[in-house]
Amino acid sequence: MENSKLEELKKLVEEGISCAKDAKDLNDLKVKFLGKKGEITNLLKSMKDLPAEERPQFGQMVNAVREQVETEIQKHLAEFEAAAKAAKIASESIDVTLPAKKMQYGHAHPNTKAMEEVERIFIGMGYEVVEGPEVELDKYNFEKLNIPAGHPARDEQDTFYINENILLRTQTSSVQARVMEKGKLPIRMICPGRVFRSDAVDATHSPSFHQIEGLVIDKHVSFADLKGTLDKFAKELFGPDTKTKLRPHHFPFTEPSAEVDVSCFKCGGKGCRFCKGEGWIEILGCGMVHPHVLEMCGIDPNEYQGFAFGVGLERIALLKYEIDDMRLLYENDTRFLNQF
Ligand code: DAH
Repeated sequence: MENSKLEELKKLVEEGISCAKDAKDLNDLKVKFLGKKGEITNLLKSMKDLPAEERPQFGQMVNAVREQVETEIQKHLAEFEAAAKAAKIASESIDVTLPAKKMQYGHAHPNTKAMEEVERIFIGMGYEVVEGPEVELDKYNFEKLNIPAGHPARDEQDTFYINENILLRTQTSSVQARVMEKGKLPIRMICPGRVFRSDAVDATHSPSFHQIEGLVIDKHVSFADLKGTLDKFAKELFGPDTKTKLRPHHFPFTEPSAEVDVSCFKCGGKGCRFCKGEGWIEILGCGMVHPHVLEMCGIDPNEYQGFAFGVGLERIALLKYEIDDMRLLYENDTRFLNQF
């Protein structure tokens, strides 16, 4: 009777093995038959109810089946594991015949290139590069630059106001007062940065653009130093044959003030489509720092003088890379940017 029970169990195990789909099924099978409360284990436990003389033979039989079942399950487990490993390796294998992905190299934006070029030139002349906040106090953007409330110059530089006293700066000139107020003299700095105006977008205007401010304060600084500095700057930027011309102008924070034109580097000054037949191209505003501005920033104008200038970065980039629409600089179309 016990014999037939054993045979039955063996058959059940074999069926279980042939139905097992994975290692888990096999492990379940192992628990079911060989576990602490497994059916074969129970058979062994029931041995105590048999007459003593039958026990050895019965024990041998059950143990033989147990070993057989265990070996069988173990064998199939190993097969499942080997198959799983093979599948994993196959899924992770690298197809070395696949063509490699093309590397896309980026490069600096024309604005960044122009900015770095300007910085390189002034650093070479001993200038320090400083930065100021884009969200600025009215005090620094206007008041301390001789542009009090109600001054007509404010009309040309309408901007975005956070509140009555805080605005998005319209010019990097705001950094002039911040640097002067610190009281560390002499000063020789440039300040590149983003500025804002409530201008509509067109080929030459944008509500957000960049300027580079320059400021020099020292004893015995003259208009000749300003002229020489800017001439050197223009030659470095546009080539050694470039000439500069200063036209009288008005800025509230400089006196006297001027706008600077460079001879057209395309036609050499003869007049062409690029310079609209003028032979000259305007590139920046400048002047001697107004004594009242110095006073407002705690500097004695009888002891110190200085000059300042402001360059539009986009204007430089457009000229240098011969781009005729400022909007192209902001669209970030890689077909355009790849050309520089
Ligand atoms: N901040 C002026 C502007 O945005 C440009 C400028 C002119 C800056 C003369 C200067 C300067 O420092 O001296 O129009």
